[in-house]
Amino acid sequence: MTDRILASAARVLGRRVGLRLDPATQHRLARSVREAADACRRDVGEFVESLEHDPHALQELLDRVTVQETSFFRDPGQFEALATHVLPTLRGPVMAWSAGCANGQEAYTLAMVLAESPVADWRVLATDVSRRALERTRAARYRDKELRGVDAARRERFFVRDGDDWVVSTALCDRVATSRLNLVGDALPGEPGSSHIVFCRNVLIYFRSPDAVDFLERLARWMPPAGYLFLGYSESLWQVTGAFKLVRLGNAFVYRPAGAPAPPAAARPAPAPAPPPARGSMPGPTPPPPRRPTTTTSLPDPAELMALGETAMAAGDYEAAVTAFRKVAYLEPDHPVAHLHLGLTLEAAGHPVAARRAYAAARGAVDRCDTAAVEAALEGYRFDELVALLDTKLGARG
Ligand SMILES: C[S@@+](CC[C@H](N)C(=O)[O-])C[C@H]1O[C@@H](n2cnc3c(N)ncnc32)[C@H](O)[C@@H]1O
Repeated sequence: MTDRILASAARVLGRRVGLRLDPATQHRLARSVREAADACRRDVGEFVESLEHDPHALQELLDRVTVQETSFFRDPGQFEALATHVLPTLRGPVMAWSAGCANGQEAYTLAMVLAESPVADWRVLATDVSRRALERTRAARYRDKELRGVDAARRERFFVRDGDDWVVSTALCDRVATSRLNLVGDALPGEPGSSHIVFCRNVLIYFRSPDAVDFLERLARWMPPAGYLFLGYSESLWQVTGAFKLVRLGNAFVYRPAGAPAPPAAARPAPAPAPPPARGSMPGPTPPPPRRPTTTTSLPDPAELMALGETAMAAGDYEAAVTAFRKVAYLEPDHPVAHLHLGLTLEAAGHPVAARRAYAAARGAVDRCDTAAVEAALEGYRFDELVALLDTKLGARG
C-alpha cells in the first residue's frame, strides 16, 4: 500500500472520528485498511476513495482500527469513589453514560455498582463508534478470562453461566441501552443535564487535540453543573480546557464542570484545589508530564506544590507527584497530609517501603500538628479518620 493511500485514509479518519495518527498507529492503520478492503471486496486504493461517501466502508474500517481494550472494574478506585462519594448524594433518576464503551465491560460495571447503591431508579447508556463493539455489548457474553476483576459474589449475583461463557443477567441488561454515537460530530445523547455520571475513559487519548477540546467543551455545556466526569488515569485535562475542574474523591480524581457547586463535605478529602487549567494541546497516549513549577528566588508555596502534585498524580506522572509532595513534606514537616499524599503516591508507583516511611512520618506528624489547622485542610474529612487511615496503612488496625 502506498504512503499516499495510507495518508488519505488517515485524513478521512481524522476528519470523521477525530482519530490522531502517530507513527505507532501507522502499522495498525495499514493492516486495518487491508482487512476492511478485503471484507468489501475492493482493492485498497478504491476502498480508501470510497470512505468519504460509503458509510458501510467507513464502518468496516472503524471496526478494525479502533482499540477495544477494556475490562470489568478497570481502575477500581474510580468505581469505589463513585459508590462511596457520588451515588449516595444523588437522587433518582440517575443516568450513567459510558462514552466509548468498547465491548461493554465498563457499562456493566457501572450497572453493577448502581445496582448495589441506594439509587433505585437508574439507567446506563453505552455508546461507541464501533458497531462490532456495540454488538458485543448487546450480547453481554464474556469468557472466563474476561471476568477478571469481578469477584465471586458479583459473578453469582449478576451473571449466568452458559457453557464456557458468562452472560450478564437480564435484570442488569434491561437497564443498559446501547447506541452508536460518534463523539466527534454527533449530538450528545438525550436531554442536556440528563446524565450526572459520564465515564469517557481511554477514548480521548486517540483523538486529535482540537476534537478532544471540542468534545469536552460540548460535554461541559451538556452535563448538569453537579455532574461527574471520569477520564482514564493516563488522561489529564491539564492545559487542555478550562471547562472542567479536577477534584479528588477518596483515592480517585474526577472532573466536574467548572461552574459546579462544591461537593458534599464527605467527598472532599483533598487539601488543595487543582491549579486552574489552561488551554493547550491534548496529551498523547503517554501524556507529557505536567509542567514543573518555574524556578523563583522565593520559597515555593506549599498549597501550589500540593495542587501540582495532585495534578501530576491524576496524569499518572508519579515522579513529578512524588517530587512535589516531597517538597511540601520538607517545607511543612509537621503537616501529616503532605506525608500522606507522598505515601499514597509512592504506593501507587509501586514503592511500598518508601510509602510506609511516608505513612510513618505522617503518623509522627499527627502527634505534633495543630489539629484544627489539619482538619480545616482536610475539608470535610475528620481528623480521626485521617489517623485511622494511617493506622490501617501501617498495619496498626485491621
Ligand atoms: C480503549 S477503548 C476504552 C473502553 C472503556 N472506556 C475503558 O476505558 O475500558 C476506546 C473505545 O473508544 C471508541 N472510540 C474511538 N473513537 C471514538 C469516537 N469518535 N466516538 C465514539 N467512540 C470512539 C473505540 O471504538 C473503543 O471502543
